[in-house]
Amino acid sequence: MFYPQFRARRIRGNESFRKMVSETALSVNDLVYPMFSAFGRGIKKEISSMPGIYQQSIEQIVVEAAEVHALGIPAVLLFGIPESKDAVGSDAYSDTGIIQQTIRAIKREVPGLAVITDVCMCEYTDHGHCGIINNGDVDNDPTLELLAREAVSHAKAGADMVAPSDMMDGRVAAIRGALDENGFDKIPIMSYAVKYASGYYGPFREAAESTPQFGDRRSYQMDPGNRLEALREAASDIEEGADIIMVKPGLPYLDIVRDLRNEFNLPLAVYNVSGEYSMIKGAAANGWIDEKRVVMETMTSFKRAGADIIISYHAKDVARWLNGN
Ligand code: PBG
Ligand code: ZN
Repeated sequence: MFYPQFRARRIRGNESFRKMVSETALSVNDLVYPMFSAFGRGIKKEISSMPGIYQQSIEQIVVEAAEVHALGIPAVLLFGIPESKDAVGSDAYSDTGIIQQTIRAIKREVPGLAVITDVCMCEYTDHGHCGIINNGDVDNDPTLELLAREAVSHAKAGADMVAPSDMMDGRVAAIRGALDENGFDKIPIMSYAVKYASGYYGPFREAAESTPQFGDRRSYQMDPGNRLEALREAASDIEEGADIIMVKPGLPYLDIVRDLRNEFNLPLAVYNVSGEYSMIKGAAANGWIDEKRVVMETMTSFKRAGADIIISYHAKDVARWLNGN
């Protein structure tokens, strides 16, 4: 059927009909808000490239966690900035580490808010890489042991879900095995299954103080041009026991989100990363774009591409806009 029998504008011209035929719904239930917990007291330091996002000490982070919960956002994703870093990232799996203390504080003060933790070494190693170094490169298999210890210590502290972001081979199986052995068989794993070596992580590395001190992450994160490899990465994480798979970054990889949605039936998350946030905030601050409109359009694009869960620094704003204020 073509014009003049068919006129698309008959439906589009009526607000009620537009709502009736809308194909993509975004809900506050879809959102996860990332937070940065810093060692110390009285710290609330804005990330210069991420307006509105802070490194905060624990007594501050629980206040924002309560606000996140009140907005109806179901979960936060926690990153830690430890007091000190070393070659093997000891703070990552210490029972008194920054994240372990933060988890306990949030679960005590805001029990209704789900706590997801980033499981990786780069925030805790002095060299800034996502695992331990041998001969100038991250050594995969010895790193698995540390990641498993880290995940178990997060679960012990009360984390509701763990999210490994390191991109080591075999880490989902290693973490699943260790969680199960330690009585945490009910704790799900959200795997950063498809994580590209991306320039869009720049602002995050300022936030988490996790810039690699030599080289880059290309020996473990994916090449941005690879699409079939994304399917292999996701399939292997699912095989190893992932409960939720993630694509990261978001906007530049919407085709990958759709590929995974079509190929697999697991819940699918997308990480709308720091650089994506900074670009929108920067353009909005200059008056070049309408922030609310562009953010909501971006969120809709993730849902349309097939994501169930959106991890975003915009989450609090999106929740407010969805709630009509
Ligand atoms: C740590 C990690 C990174 C991000 C999440 N977990 C950075 C990196 O891999 O360099 C990026 C998140 C963001 O940019 O918002 N492995
Ligand atoms: Zn890392």
